[in-house]
Amino acid sequence: MPGSQQNGCQQNGGGSRVWPENVGIIAMDIYFPTTYVEQTNLEEFNGVSKGKYTVGLGQKRMAFCNDREDIASICLTVTDRLFKKYQISPKDIGFMMIGTETIVDKSKSVKTVLMDLFKDSGNTDIEGVHATNACYGGTASLFHAIDWIESSSWDGRYALVIAGDIAVYASGPARPTGGVGAVAMLVGPNAAVIFDRRVRSTYMANVYDFYKPDLTSEYPYVDGPLSNQCYLQALDQCYNLYFDKVNRAHVNCPAANEPGKKARSVQLENFDGILFHAPYCKLVQKSVARMYLLNSLRKKAQDPDSLPSQLEKYKNIKLEESYNDRDLEKVLLTLSGDIFNQRTDPSLMLAREIGNMYTASLYSCLISYLLSDKIENLANKRILLFSYGSGLAASMFSARISGDTSDNSALSRLVKGVSDIPQRLEQRTSVAAAQFEETLNLREKTHSLAPYTPTGDVSQLSAGTYYLTDVSQKHHRAYSKA
Ligand SMILES: CC(C)(COP(=O)(O)OP(=O)(O)OC[C@H]1O[C@@H](n2cnc3c(N)ncnc32)[C@H](O)[C@@H]1OP(=O)(O)O)[C@@H](O)C(=O)NCCC(=O)NCCS
Repeated sequence: MPGSQQNGCQQNGGGSRVWPENVGIIAMDIYFPTTYVEQTNLEEFNGVSKGKYTVGLGQKRMAFCNDREDIASICLTVTDRLFKKYQISPKDIGFMMIGTETIVDKSKSVKTVLMDLFKDSGNTDIEGVHATNACYGGTASLFHAIDWIESSSWDGRYALVIAGDIAVYASGPARPTGGVGAVAMLVGPNAAVIFDRRVRSTYMANVYDFYKPDLTSEYPYVDGPLSNQCYLQALDQCYNLYFDKVNRAHVNCPAANEPGKKARSVQLENFDGILFHAPYCKLVQKSVARMYLLNSLRKKAQDPDSLPSQLEKYKNIKLEESYNDRDLEKVLLTLSGDIFNQRTDPSLMLAREIGNMYTASLYSCLISYLLSDKIENLANKRILLFSYGSGLAASMFSARISGDTSDNSALSRLVKGVSDIPQRLEQRTSVAAAQFEETLNLREKTHSLAPYTPTGDVSQLSAGTYYLTDVSQKHHRAYSKA
């Protein structure tokens, strides 16, 4: 990796170390299976009305895999490809965390399996294990990686974050909101996507909207309508807290274009990209609509005349009583249409094509956003991100894209690194809904079996894909590479 071991650290006047500069994402890649099912075929196969999954949920295709792939294999694949694509030396990694809720072992972390990728380098000095809380584990891992780099433990090496999941639901209304994917991110100073400091906002609570108490099954227990409400509730909380923090005069926040200025008013409009965890794209569209309301109410507190006339009757609304107000939702979807189209829709390309990837979903949206425009237009763009994991854990945070677009810049390498993704999507194989169901049945029957020899076809795996070859009597898992 060009620039490795350049620790980006500044010395203060006394010679002691201060925060490294511009910490964020330096390199990224995504892995998704080569097989998918068209949501239109699934609508027909499941006998639901035409448009329910495509228009109602906003999904186009859903990736899935057979019994040859598990959480370790998809994380191995994406990490190995990241190393090769960006010429990263395993010796330069000092921290690695995996965010996932696809658990195959209650004790042994996926991270330990990934240590096989470091064997030849001799590097065993790598902190971090894995983080689990529904779709939030990737964000927890990213925050830990950033914090490690900014801490006194940092030794100048990079951090690696992998967020990956095999999202499968039992037959029923939730099944079309599945998907499979893993995103790998190299984190360090002098990054292409630089995270803002001191403004993360978090909301956590104890709810049973989606959880996985049955370790013999891959499927969650899910209360769909409750999970939608919890998502929007968490959005309300994180949004208001984020904007309270960012507008505090003492925070030298890069989200405002005027660092150091005493009073400021950072609003939704300050962000060029607004990115969400995307369980299904329609919920993201509704979340932008919700943000429009939150933004309008905050503006109204400063200037009562600023409220759009269509929202006049909602000016004293109690947020907690408004989640199921369909009239309000309709008004907000119209008012927020331009914001959604310009600032969020470009980030949903992969979510539509692959489906929910749980922990990887938000970071797939970041990749889609990076693919949505030319590098010169991406430079200096400001991004707001919302991460949600059922149960629940949620955070809002922000970043800016580096302004350095020179040939060997981190941004240039990142944009080039993800540029093969549209072609990889094109090269996938569409599989009939009946075969998709059969494949999920196979996973269902064989999940956690030992001893077990997987039977799934490996011929469709793309070159460099890791796959499961055997589960021994003692549950030892063995992998090979296509
Ligand atoms: C999301 C989920 C609750 C939807 O379940 P469902 O029973 O299919 O829900 P609905 O019947 O309300 O249909 C979904 C949408 O499709 C719309 N729809 C139904 N048929 C339609 C058709 N033929 N054409 C267009 N839209 C249609 C519905 O009106 C509804 O839209 P609305 O919510 O804007 O009114 C379910 O897929 C689920 O539980 N998913 C997993 C949990 C999840 O992803 N939660 C998100 C937060 S983490």
